[in-house]
Amino acid sequence: MKKKLREFFLIIFCCVCFHISLPKDLLAVESDLGKNLFKNNCAGCHINGGNIIRRSKNLKISSLKRNGIDNQEAIAKIARQGIGIMSGYKDNLGDNGDQIVANWILEQAQKAWIHE
Ligand code: HEC
Repeated sequence: MKKKLREFFLIIFCCVCFHISLPKDLLAVESDLGKNLFKNNCAGCHINGGNIIRRSKNLKISSLKRNGIDNQEAIAKIARQGIGIMSGYKDNLGDNGDQIVANWILEQAQKAWIHE
């Protein structure tokens, strides 16, 4: 009986460890993916969250807020379809790439594009 109890706790312990470690790893992978998508498709014009063509249309939180696009879906849509003189990058971003890069941009904007 005691042995069974020990096994039970061991299994619980493993489950807890698994749960603690798993989402963090997945998030890290996704964050890397977002960073790479940005580097490959957006950084040419939006280096460090700026905009080399239309300076005011940058990816800083104040600008996103001003233009009502401070949410993942709005940024993802622009990534896919473009906006104004910017063309869309749907074909380059792959499955969910628009959401992943949008999420990454939003995260950077909230951190004022300061890299640690
Ligand atoms: C060739 C240069 C170029 C590239 C590459 C580019 N953009 Fe843009 N982006 C622009 C320009 C120019 C604007 C302003 C468009 C306008 O309003 O006419 C803009 C505007 C935006 C805006 C709106 C910003 C605001 O404050 O209103 C978002 C969001 C955005 N781009 C996201 C992206 C994402 C995501 C990518 C990569 C998938 C990307 N851009 C790639 C040139 C570019």
